[in-house]
Amino acid sequence: MSGHASPRPLRARPGHPLRGTADVPGDKSVSHRALILGALAVGETRIEGLLEGQDVLDTAAAMRAFGAEVLRDGTGWVVHGVGTGGFAEPGDVIDCGNSGTGVRLVMGAMATTPIVATFTGDASLRRRPMGRVTEPLALFGARALGREGGRLPMTVEGARDPVPVRYILPVASAQVKSAILLAGLNAPGETVVIEREATRDHTERMLRGFGAEVSVEEGPEGRVVTLSGQPELRAQRVAVPRDPSSAAFPVCAALVVPGSEVRVPRIGLNPTRAGLYETLREMGADLSFENRREEGGEPVADLVARFGGALRGVEVPPERAASMIDEYPILGVVAAFAEGPTVMRGVRELRVKESDRIDAMAHVLRAAGVEVEEGEDWWIVHGRGADGVRGGAVAEARLDHRIAMSALILGMAAREGMAVDDAGPIATSFPVFERLMADLGAVLEPG
Ligand code: S3P
Repeated sequence: MSGHASPRPLRARPGHPLRGTADVPGDKSVSHRALILGALAVGETRIEGLLEGQDVLDTAAAMRAFGAEVLRDGTGWVVHGVGTGGFAEPGDVIDCGNSGTGVRLVMGAMATTPIVATFTGDASLRRRPMGRVTEPLALFGARALGREGGRLPMTVEGARDPVPVRYILPVASAQVKSAILLAGLNAPGETVVIEREATRDHTERMLRGFGAEVSVEEGPEGRVVTLSGQPELRAQRVAVPRDPSSAAFPVCAALVVPGSEVRVPRIGLNPTRAGLYETLREMGADLSFENRREEGGEPVADLVARFGGALRGVEVPPERAASMIDEYPILGVVAAFAEGPTVMRGVRELRVKESDRIDAMAHVLRAAGVEVEEGEDWWIVHGRGADGVRGGAVAEARLDHRIAMSALILGMAAREGMAVDDAGPIATSFPVFERLMADLGAVLEPG
């Protein structure tokens, strides 16, 4: 939903240790996929632990617009799907709000059905590139017409006689990979996507769970994912793990606020998502993973994070970027409280997220008295040590939930606190963030 609610400034005050258990919400990536695959399956899919953030609610509304029944009952979410190729033509524009994942996956899911749909989103989403999805979707026979530079609003006409596709991803993007696989569901024969670097594999895992045939092999060009087209997807029960990207905020807060100890139960630790935790360990963070197990086809564990004094700056290897792409903003905050520089390379993709996250974080950190250097696909944060960050400024959220939350975590540990001009975007991915952080002991106040 592209709401125009007035900005809601919020300030974090320092000096309050964070202690207790943080029950973070369901994984955003898995939640979008569960709704979309549920809508394409025959029968009743039940989803437990779905993230009820605005991004996911917008995808639920989109699935209704394409003809699926999506409702919430006392135990969770229920989807009655229409079957592969069964999407109906929506009667109105599909508004995906702030969600790049939502719009790109839904475009893929409808691109091989002979219907027309027009997509839009909020000011942030309307700035983001869609050509990376519409170019491969055109190979199936779909046509797209959008604004200059492949921006929303955009109308997609699904292919009448889709052909299968073989595509090498030019950018490391799970959204593009997933859009192609979802389009491949209604094409005859085998659709093949090749990625040089492994990106999150929730789509592959969940497609198998719904009964599709998906194989993954390592080839000379990279990871080769092959989908056999036109399967009958069978409705499932899906258990959504808790979001490691949301868990990153209370975990990193515990690492920078003196005296903290926070437990985050049941977080998803799919290796394609866990790069931040490896990096934090290299920085010397006190993290323990307990009760490692598998739930709903995804590895999970209970994570305990403790403040242990100053961390050290590190060089994050570029090949790790895909497995922690959403965590660079909060890593930038941890890096500010570390000793020495933290160097992050191979992160050009950060420039086309909900905001240009390198530029947005450089502004936040500089305003807080931290030195940052940046180039097109790299940035360096010069750490000031555990009690060396001044803060005392108002950060711009730029319609980006992760920038808003990162600035507030910074304010929990910086000498003069930190404010953000608009906490509204946090509801896209982590609607209970403020209450959860307050329950741990954080002081957040209006203005
Ligand atoms: C996502 C993929 C990533 C990530 C986004 C969620 C997904 O985007 O940043 O938050 O669910 O597939 P890209 O595929 O554009 O890297």
